[in-house]
Amino acid sequence: MRHVLPAIDFSFPGIAGDVVRLRDLLRDALRLLKVAPPAAPSILNLACGRADETGVLLEVLRSGTGGGQYLGLDLRTAEIDEATRRWRPSMHALDAIEFRVADASLAHHWPAKTSFDFIFIRHQNYWDAPAVWDQIFRHALARLNPAGALIFTSYFDREHELAMAALQTQGAHLSLDLPHAKSRSLPEAPGKSVDKRLALMIPHCAVEHFVPPSILHL
Ligand SMILES: C[S@@+](CC[C@H](N)C(=O)[O-])C[C@H]1O[C@@H](n2cnc3c(N)ncnc32)[C@H](O)[C@@H]1O
Repeated sequence: MRHVLPAIDFSFPGIAGDVVRLRDLLRDALRLLKVAPPAAPSILNLACGRADETGVLLEVLRSGTGGGQYLGLDLRTAEIDEATRRWRPSMHALDAIEFRVADASLAHHWPAKTSFDFIFIRHQNYWDAPAVWDQIFRHALARLNPAGALIFTSYFDREHELAMAALQTQGAHLSLDLPHAKSRSLPEAPGKSVDKRLALMIPHCAVEHFVPPSILHL
């Protein structure tokens, strides 16, 4: 897979390194779980903000050299506009790439009749609005393909644990909780670190290519 590069520079120093480290973390997760991504998957980047990680998602979550659908959803118009400028459709050999302003807690803001092979959420901040995130997770789990996976990263341990518990309460199955050894600490809050942990959840256990969690829960 060739590198998928942004059309414009990232907005802040440190992001380019963060996304490369995220790419390695995602690759480790898929390798541990023996997940072979589809050649042309459908990928949702949920609550994507500026969607800085778009390039690495397109590199790691696709096994083919082209094709696939990529959608980013977020509440914030400015971030969605920036993502749209940074990740232009023609560059990535995709069938479709789109960034859309949406409130993902509302069923009617989700694209009609669409399901996804991967739903990715970075730094979901569950504790900010637990009731809202419970709704977002409910819609997300309903939109995963049968062999699909929901992958999320967190910047705080507590944020991560709350999100894993909330998803498990909704019947999702935790396949992997992977600490990120090379995560970059952020000075603005104690314990805050970029993509500090990655979790991979599936809607139910009966998916053949996932190894049992007793072996993989690190
Ligand atoms: C901590 S930021 C992380 C943004 C981005 N994923 C990143 O890693 O930079 C959390 C994001 O969740 C989005 N968000 C919160 N509630 C949402 C909702 N109901 N629907 C869609 N996006 C939401 C916010 O707008 C914000 O961009």
